[in-house]
Amino acid sequence: MKFAFSEISLPKRGSLAVAIYDKNKLSETAKVVDKASKGALSKALKTSRFKGKKGNFLEILAPSGLDVSRVILFGLGDQGALSQTDLEAVGGSLVKRLNSAGAQSVTVILDEIRSEDIKTSIAAASIAVGAKLGSYRFQKYKTEEDESSEPTLGRVTMACKGSAAARKAFADMEAVADGVFLTRDLVSEPANSLYPESFAERCKELTSLGLEVEVLDEKKMARLGMGALLGVGQGSRRESRLVIMKWNGLSGKRAAKNPLAFVGKGVCFDTGGISLKPGPGMEEMKWDMGGAGTVTGLMKALAGRKAKVNAIGVIGLVENMPDGNAQRPGDIVTSMSGQTIEILNTDAEGRLVLADALWYTQDRFKPKFMIDLATLTGAIIVSLGHENAGLFANDDELAEALYAAGEAVEEGVWRLPMSKAYAKQTKSPIADLQNIGTGGRGAGSIVAAEFLKKFVNDVPWVHLDIAGMAWSKQDKPTVPKGGTGYGVRLLDRFVRDNHEG
Ligand code: BES
Ligand code: MN
Ligand code: ZN
Repeated sequence: MKFAFSEISLPKRGSLAVAIYDKNKLSETAKVVDKASKGALSKALKTSRFKGKKGNFLEILAPSGLDVSRVILFGLGDQGALSQTDLEAVGGSLVKRLNSAGAQSVTVILDEIRSEDIKTSIAAASIAVGAKLGSYRFQKYKTEEDESSEPTLGRVTMACKGSAAARKAFADMEAVADGVFLTRDLVSEPANSLYPESFAERCKELTSLGLEVEVLDEKKMARLGMGALLGVGQGSRRESRLVIMKWNGLSGKRAAKNPLAFVGKGVCFDTGGISLKPGPGMEEMKWDMGGAGTVTGLMKALAGRKAKVNAIGVIGLVENMPDGNAQRPGDIVTSMSGQTIEILNTDAEGRLVLADALWYTQDRFKPKFMIDLATLTGAIIVSLGHENAGLFANDDELAEALYAAGEAVEEGVWRLPMSKAYAKQTKSPIADLQNIGTGGRGAGSIVAAEFLKKFVNDVPWVHLDIAGMAWSKQDKPTVPKGGTGYGVRLLDRFVRDNHEG
């Protein structure tokens, strides 16, 4: 889909979208269009339940007196109460309607928004990026396309006052959307095609954007003493990998600043290992690399928009398989930190991967903070469903900044408690730690977070459990079902608001 920006003028062909406000108040352009069509808009409004509410639409086909094939009225509700995410949703829904109608191009005219909170140029760019986010599809394995569902919309023209500023804002937002698309692609890819080595290759492609990418193989990880991560991967025919992506967006004196660090769980497939998962639904475990997918998409977004920060992305890539060489319940491994871990359940593997990835990251890079993302526990879905990621932190300021970013982009996080009493549950009678708690089904997500905390060495840290967020079975305006790309926009916003300029 191609996007263009222009000043306001009525199009000669294609579809036209114009805004209607609360109680069917016509926007400036809607008034012009109504006049040109001898009152077609007013008539249509009178005969419909449409009231100009945010997120509602009304379509008028082949209006006489106009050159366009269709006019779509989009409700904006109360202009003063519009947020960026509202406008994105308008863009996403608009694309879906136009595709199902078979439209090939649309001109969206946005008259000046009367609001203290949002500039018209940003609003126009937001509609456009919403259209882009909502248009995502993962179709590479479809050899035949059902013609009736094939998207037709190829061109979106956003018309508003100050279109140059809108175009500029969109370029920046589009770089982030490209990061989201990469995450969605990675998460959707099946495990026979996306495994540690091929994932690492995908990361290497990002060097074209100016990222530095380094890949550690098993030999190098063994030399570093990463027994926890390597233990998880030892039952797989696929070799494990650790990928380090660096974005150096600061120059001069500031180039030496301590980087921001993002760490991701990349279990390319999680069978559970010897503690095998039940069959039904196991195919979902192809997206157990969602944390690593988000970190990779975020690094692409930061590089794509040339963010003024130094950032590191570290992802631990493994496949958790049962096999003659797989690790057994009862095995004890030694992590890079030196702490020993008794493996009581080979299905609690994500924390083992992160243990070495986190320790390595703080040891080598001395980051300002670390934020890890992981599809870590089924228990977080019991707690929070699919509306918020679980947030765990040893630092209140970081936790609050992430909460604010989540509110702004509508990628929610909700903090859960941590304390010594939970941490106790990770103690093993015969090793330093054990990889599952003693509390049975209780507080599984918290105990997992306490386990991770043993490997952050008191660096300011946040853990996001995204097991409920990485994949969606439900279509939303800007998030089609499948891999969601959750976390890229959250962290991009967090970086923008707290660590640039
Ligand atoms: N990858 C899973 C967590 C998961 C489950 C993500 C369902 C998404 C949907 C993780 O590796 C796992 O298996 N966790 C276990 C931990 C338990 C053995 C302590 C779980 O949640 O059951
Ligand atoms: Mn598991
Ligand atoms: Zn897992």
